[in-house]
Amino acid sequence: MRSLRKTVLLAILVSVVLVLAILHSWPTRAYTTVDLWQRPGPGAERHLEERLPEPDHRSRDIPYRLRESVASLLARNGCMCEGERGGLKLPFTQLLFPRVSAHPLHTAFEASELEEMKRRRAKEYQSFQMRSQTAADVLIVAEANSPLQYPTQGVEVRPLKTILIPGLALQDLPKDHYSVNISAKLGTLNVAAEVEGVKVKGDGEPHMTLSSSLLPNLNRQLQYITYTNTLFHPSTADTVQFETEGHQAFFIIKIGHGVTPKLYNTGPKGEYNVSALVTIATKTFLRYDKLQDLIDSVRRYYPTVTIVIADDSENPKSVSGPYIEHYIMPFGKGWFAGRNLAVSQVTTKYVLWVDDDFIFTSNTKLERLVDVLERTTLDLVGGAVREATGYTATYRQTISIEPGEENGDCLHMRRGFHHVIKGFPNCVVTDGVINFFLARTDKVQQVGFDPRLARVAHLEFFIDGLGSLHVGSCDDVIVNHATKIKFPWASQSESDKTYTKFRYPPASSDATHTKNGLLFFKNRFQCLTRN
Ligand SMILES: *[C@@H]1O[C@H](CO)[C@@H](O)[C@H](O)[C@H]1NC(C)=O
Ligand SMILES: *[C@@H]1O[C@H](CO)[C@@H](O)[C@H](O)[C@H]1NC(C)=O
Repeated sequence: MRSLRKTVLLAILVSVVLVLAILHSWPTRAYTTVDLWQRPGPGAERHLEERLPEPDHRSRDIPYRLRESVASLLARNGCMCEGERGGLKLPFTQLLFPRVSAHPLHTAFEASELEEMKRRRAKEYQSFQMRSQTAADVLIVAEANSPLQYPTQGVEVRPLKTILIPGLALQDLPKDHYSVNISAKLGTLNVAAEVEGVKVKGDGEPHMTLSSSLLPNLNRQLQYITYTNTLFHPSTADTVQFETEGHQAFFIIKIGHGVTPKLYNTGPKGEYNVSALVTIATKTFLRYDKLQDLIDSVRRYYPTVTIVIADDSENPKSVSGPYIEHYIMPFGKGWFAGRNLAVSQVTTKYVLWVDDDFIFTSNTKLERLVDVLERTTLDLVGGAVREATGYTATYRQTISIEPGEENGDCLHMRRGFHHVIKGFPNCVVTDGVINFFLARTDKVQQVGFDPRLARVAHLEFFIDGLGSLHVGSCDDVIVNHATKIKFPWASQSESDKTYTKFRYPPASSDATHTKNGLLFFKNRFQCLTRN
């Protein structure tokens, strides 16, 4: 009997403690639930597009002549990759007269798995679009002769904050009664002041009606309309509808945090102090003799610049010295993984990428590259690499993407550039450059080097960075390439042989498949052309 009472007492005690614990941990603030689920097809977009004026049937009969030279510049329905045919096939023709070749990318997958890959890619692409598009990307057409005045762009609010909506007014014909409606989707509307003779309905709600018999009073009231964002998102946009009898208008309010700057203290004015501004980053694999030559050549000109080395050799050797950081990685992690690691450790404003078999000379003037980045809007500027033969390459590439349909987009890469940069006659604007470039560290870190690209890869970085990197190239800052000419009678060292095996796998190998597979799936291309 006593033990039963004891058990009951104990149970009650435990329950009380549990209830207290639950009450204590219960959130005191009420949170509203936000639906962040991705779902296909935002309704607003369709609604807005339905408002595009129907092509007037009277204008259909007006004759016109197509101007082929201009019309052909417009995007077609779906893109195609076409190579150039014919021509002589002689040694060096590709070097002297580069021809465009086309490459399908779906070949990275077996025929049996291709359909499944396409399906998965389409699903991922759809959610990418949902994440990356906002109401600010939707086409809005202002209708003719609308009495509504409203801001077409430039209205911005911080998440969950309030602003006055500038520029709202009604310019209507004389009437007995004036009325306007304003509606938002991601926020509420209110008035910061009440104007006499104006009736306000729905203040503090997403849909508000203002009415008055006096137009000047209504317009005065419209100057006090506020918008408060209520659904948190770090970067999106709201479509606000503004209407009066028989007329409707839409405008966009951008919602978002400002961009947080990342500034670097570049030191006192005067000459550029390369050691304070630049870190040299490289990746090495087995070639310690070449790496040492690089370090020695750098030290001749820049004795205190920091050199960051990522190393994925099987039996790493120690590389040490002042201003050297040597990071050892698991064996064979690969080319882009190493680049990523090296760049992630850079703390200076700029990072200079070099290959481990480059040699600095008196032509390797980093100050000049720093000057270009300091005085232009470029994020990255490439230099030139001189081969032992005396041939100097900048490897400038333009990259463009032509929209395709569900098969994916077409990627076009061509040698060349877009413009010469004013004030820097040796420099041009382009999209991709050689393995020798100076860049804003934070921009390179943002784009990143996809570590899945383990072997031959370079332009993939610029493809990933297209649209966020502003790229230039200067041919008057030159680094030398340690000899690469292979004479048939010269014997390769063991490490050179292993290096070649890893770095330059045959074209049909897994590495090429990985590369094409990434272009196909990750970047959603169907094919590429290049010269
Ligand atoms: C304003 O909205 C209400 C419904 O919320 C509607 O009845 C009224 O016709 C609208 N007024 C105008 C001028 O569009
Ligand atoms: C250049 O920068 C380095 C590293 O910040 C510093 O140690 C050195 O004193 C600077 N040199 C000059 C001339 O300012």
